[in-house]
Amino acid sequence: MILMFGHLTIDPPVVLAPMAGVTDAPFRVVCGEQGAGLFVSEMVTARGLVEGNEKSLEMTRHHPAERVRSLQLYGSDPAVMGDAVRRLVAEDAADHVDLNFGCPVPKVTRNGGGAALPFKRRLFAQVVAAAVGAAGEIPVTVKMRLGLDDDRLTYLDAGRIAADQGAAAVALHARTAIQGYAGAARWEAIARLVDAVPGTPVLGNGDIWRAEDAVAMVAATGCAGVVIGRGCLGRPWLFADLARIFNGEGPLGPPDLGEVVAIARRHLELSLAWYRDEPSAVRRFRKHLRWYLQGYPVGHDAHRRAGLAETEAQVLSLLDDVDPALRVVGSAVDAPRGRTDAMSRLVLPQGWCDDAEADAQVIDPRVAVSGG
Ligand SMILES: Cc1cc2nc3c(=O)[nH]c(=O)nc-3n(C[C@H](O)[C@H](O)[C@H](O)COP(=O)(O)O)c2cc1C
Repeated sequence: MILMFGHLTIDPPVVLAPMAGVTDAPFRVVCGEQGAGLFVSEMVTARGLVEGNEKSLEMTRHHPAERVRSLQLYGSDPAVMGDAVRRLVAEDAADHVDLNFGCPVPKVTRNGGGAALPFKRRLFAQVVAAAVGAAGEIPVTVKMRLGLDDDRLTYLDAGRIAADQGAAAVALHARTAIQGYAGAARWEAIARLVDAVPGTPVLGNGDIWRAEDAVAMVAATGCAGVVIGRGCLGRPWLFADLARIFNGEGPLGPPDLGEVVAIARRHLELSLAWYRDEPSAVRRFRKHLRWYLQGYPVGHDAHRRAGLAETEAQVLSLLDDVDPALRVVGSAVDAPRGRTDAMSRLVLPQGWCDDAEADAQVIDPRVAVSGG
């Protein structure tokens, strides 16, 4: 099974979900070394890019090992979004652009951005059209949720609008914004979206923890590809299993800790080289280190050391000390990780939901935002 959008061929049909604070270049490379697919960047704000914000520009950089340079943009002003994509094209900085319409955090939805935006159909169409128009040959995809909440589902309309405006694929995180990351993803909605946008590939997202879940999602929904978020945190080897299972081979399942340690060492090495600054590289790496150990009976002290590590030497000595022969305990390695909570409330601009057809104007927050 091969996924195509635009001129890109993605084989197996597997996409690493954009995750703020997680899917930086070192992590993308580590995942790509395990398997294959499309590996999307952390979210970059379109406004930051247009204004030449150093951090935003830095986040658009890809590692030379990344064959397909994929970037996620967040923005809700069509003009700014168009400018941001034009800049990427002019600088030959991306081969694929994904648009984030799934972020549920108040900082973003309060202004009508992220998961709030698809409710306003016209503005949503304008943002997608601006990106597609500026992208030329580069495929633009849309990533969204089911809607604001169960009373305000938008995904079928938004999927049709995105397809009409030329999106090369639509990814659906099958939860509402208010659900955040809690509860089960509703795969049946992915099947409905597949039916609603014939001719446009639908990527299913939510709760793929094991390779078997990916083929189950494809079988249950008819989606053209799968998007892997939290399932690969501390488990880049999942991409090896995904490559196997889409190739008709049995997945190998969780490796022993020795193999995980080898992946962690490689990840650390890439991070140190990428950030060229030991404290910030280790700070970013620390959460991955904790995920790498999750599910293995390494003991309290190892977890404590992982949480406190500040230097390369501390990380390496911890990785030396754990027993490489350890195997996962029960199903602990498949246990949810990363975010698992619902949103306590949805914050929207006043009157936002009075009229879905009305024009809307949105001011993108200047601050860097995170989440999806
Ligand atoms: C730490 C974290 C950061 C995230 N950041 C983003 C983001 O920047 N953009 C986005 O579209 N989704 C983001 N998401 C959502 C994921 O891309 C994905 O849609 C979600 O985790 C559901 O997939 P899963 O069940 O496989 O984890 C984030 C998720 C997590 C856990």
